[in-house]
Amino acid sequence: MPHVTLPKTGTDKAWREAARACLQARIPPEQVSWSRGPAEDILFAEGEAPPAAKPGPIRVPPAFVELASQVCWHRDPERFARLYAFLWRVVAQPALMQDAADRDLTALRNMERAVHRDLHKVKAFVRFREIGDRTAPRRRFAAWFEPAHYTLEPAAPFFARRFADMDFSIATPDLVLHVEDGTVRFEEGADRPELPEDAAEELWLTYFSNIFNPARVKLDRMLAEMPKKYWKNLPETALIPDLLAGAESRVRAMAEAAPTRAPFYAKAIAARPKAPAAPPEAGSLASLRAEEAACTRCPLFEGATQAVPGEGPLDAPLMFVGEQPGDQEDLQGRPFVGPAGQLLDDILNQAGIDRRRAFLTNAVKHFKYTLKGKRRIHASPSGGEISACRTWLSQELTLVKPRLVVALGASAAESLTGSREGILKRRGSIEDGPGGLPVFLTVHPSFLLRLPDPVAREMETERFRQDLVAAREHLERLMAA
Ligand code: URA
Repeated sequence: MPHVTLPKTGTDKAWREAARACLQARIPPEQVSWSRGPAEDILFAEGEAPPAAKPGPIRVPPAFVELASQVCWHRDPERFARLYAFLWRVVAQPALMQDAADRDLTALRNMERAVHRDLHKVKAFVRFREIGDRTAPRRRFAAWFEPAHYTLEPAAPFFARRFADMDFSIATPDLVLHVEDGTVRFEEGADRPELPEDAAEELWLTYFSNIFNPARVKLDRMLAEMPKKYWKNLPETALIPDLLAGAESRVRAMAEAAPTRAPFYAKAIAARPKAPAAPPEAGSLASLRAEEAACTRCPLFEGATQAVPGEGPLDAPLMFVGEQPGDQEDLQGRPFVGPAGQLLDDILNQAGIDRRRAFLTNAVKHFKYTLKGKRRIHASPSGGEISACRTWLSQELTLVKPRLVVALGASAAESLTGSREGILKRRGSIEDGPGGLPVFLTVHPSFLLRLPDPVAREMETERFRQDLVAAREHLERLMAA
């Protein structure tokens, strides 16, 4: 029975060559055995000539070649035989490469994954110490590492590229890699060498303890990424027990020191006027603003920078009511100045409506949001919040006395008409608002901004423009009557 001994380096290419020779000689898997040895070349049955090839093409799926080039580095002594057995089958049945239920393929894929993981560990956990003359033009380093598989050779091109400006050796029990002036060479494996303490190690330890974030400690993940067996060769791991022991108290200290609100609006919140016991009666727009600024009728005042009052001329015939201030409005204290406001401005222009002649306000005067990191993400106001804020909108209506109100979106419609029916069904219609005031219903401009499909956005923008034209025409009829 032929036996193939593969060399310790270049094992992947040697296996490919030997497997091709066996396949061409039609040697079935059960009649060949394999091993990896110190030999420098492939040996067939201890010195025998390679088996004679029989004519005929052999097609091997490229995915198998890729798989074999990884599996060859696995430590399992059966890996070459398993590869050859699967090769024997896959040549006859190339579709096997896609058969997720095939047990042989599954076993090979698991080996491939193990090699892949080990390669990652070699690249991440090798730690060099300087040896030799530090003033020499090319400094020299050495490292000791114990990979789980034979991964030093496939990792060599990475190290040669990454540390192109230095000479180094990486010793493992199986092989030693030397890179000198960019030339890669291997030697038989060695015992762990005596490596000097390195001055750079101190820097590395300081760096590691500084970047260690106790709030992110996930011991399971840490051990999965950096299993304990690698710790002994990583200088920084000597710090881990102490860092972990102190993690909890450091997290507590970090939490106590952390700002509770994003700094850019915290100042404005602190400077807010104190709330009066009850909202006073409305008098002028200015006093209404002052009252709104001190509103605590619902909890939304707590997180917002300020109340955003309505703005526009007191004799405006047309009033627009939105939902609530957005991020920009909250910071600037003016309604419709953010992205939705800019879109509204554009379409008002196209619809022949002068924003300066209209009164713009919102159903809710404080910005409601949820925090995502440092970002404040809009959250819809609840029915209770809309109703708590209705007093301000009623007073704005009393003061301005518009002839027509345009409700932009569902929250405004709810506040003005009391109905929560879907806005898309009601848009374009006119309903009765407070005291029988006509309320023209349409969508909110941010509905358009949220549409992902550009064609749908274009169509909806045109519909919104038509709604605003219809509202203007209705107002003109009211004014002419
Ligand atoms: N959305 C609104 O409803 N109102 C604004 O003021 C801004 C965005």
